[in-house]
Parts: sequence; structure tokens; C-alpha cells
Amino acid sequence: MSTTQPLPPDTRDAQSEGGELAGDAAIRRRLLIATSALGGAGLLAAAVPFVKSLEPSAAARAAGDPVEVDISALGPGELKTVVWRGKPVWLLKRTSDMVASLGRDTALLADATSLRSDQPAACRNRYRSLEPQLAVIVAVCTHLGCTPNLERVGDPGTAWLGNDWPGGFYCPCHGSKFDLAGRVFKNVPAPTNLVIPPYAYESPTLVRVGDPTG
Ligand code: FES
Repeated sequence: MSTTQPLPPDTRDAQSEGGELAGDAAIRRRLLIATSALGGAGLLAAAVPFVKSLEPSAAARAAGDPVEVDISALGPGELKTVVWRGKPVWLLKRTSDMVASLGRDTALLADATSLRSDQPAACRNRYRSLEPQLAVIVAVCTHLGCTPNLERVGDPGTAWLGNDWPGGFYCPCHGSKFDLAGRVFKNVPAPTNLVIPPYAYESPTLVRVGDPTG
């Protein structure tokens, strides 16, 4: 019976082989560093368009931009609707009677002092506006988002709103009522006053709806 014994290692060969191994390891390390550097650069190059794709497009930026509204042709009692951020916004030139109505019958209102509603700080007043004659209101009912109708005192077809109707906005979807400052009446489905957007005057006849300084 014969057994095979492992041959003793050849020291010289081992040294030589070890030297080659050490050389291989150094080459592999250099390759690894070079590959990592290339990979990092590649990732960075790939990330830049990705980050760019997260930036808002020009159209999206434009959709959020303020809207300039010329109100020079708006007569007393007239309403103009513009679109800001995809929502209708009313600009109502209130008559002096309309302005006076905002001080009466506040007992009908759920939040007459606008404590729970959304408006710029400068508009937290009886008129919910920067100046009494012009109302700027987001025309979206705070119940489920319908657009209410302007129902002025004396308009045809408003008799059913009652003798105490001060003029305002009526939402036909579920019957919410708001006064001419967008303040919600008591006992209707809408929980809060209509929203007043930020806005500012560029001149007495030019309004910027959505102006963050407003
Ligand atoms: S959406 Fe206006 S009352 Fe319901």
C-alpha cells in the first residue's frame, strides 16, 4: 500500500510566488481605487439629472406664480373671476351698501372675527380684505369644494334667501351660505370661512393675487 506525501514547499518558488501575489494585490488595489473613483463619478453624473428632474418645471413654477389683475374696468357690485394655482379667485368691487352690510347681522355668522379661517394677517378684519371696497376671495366652498354663486340683494331669484339675506355667496351643492367677505353662516355644512389668498396692490387698479408680500 502506498501513500502520497505532500512535497515540501520550494522556499525559493514560494518567495517568488509571494512576490507575484503581493504585486497582484497591489494591482488589484489600484484597479479597485480607479474603479471606485469612476463609479463615484458615474453616480454623480447620474444624480445630477435626477436632482434636476426634481426641480419644478417652468410650467409648474408659472402655475404657482402670482396673477396680475387689472381691476380698472370693475364697476361697483361687479365680480371678476381669475384663476390662481388652478383655483378660481373672485375680485368683488363692493358697493358702499355691501361694505355696510358686513357690520350688520354678525350673529348670523359662525366665525365673524375669522378666528378659525385662512387669510393673510392684514385681512383679519371685518372686511377680510386690505381695503373695504375690494374683496379677493378663493371661490372654493370649504365644505366639499364647489364654487358658490354671488347672490346680491335685489338680484332676481334671491327672494327665497329671505328678508334678512345681506347679500353674499350661496353654494348650491349642499346649501352653505357666506357673506360678502366670505364669512360662513351658522348651521350650514361648510365648517369655515372662505379662504382669502395673499395679494397686494401694484397700483390702485392693479392687484397681484398670490403675492407673498400680501
Ligand atoms: S360643497 Fe358647498 S355646501 Fe357642500
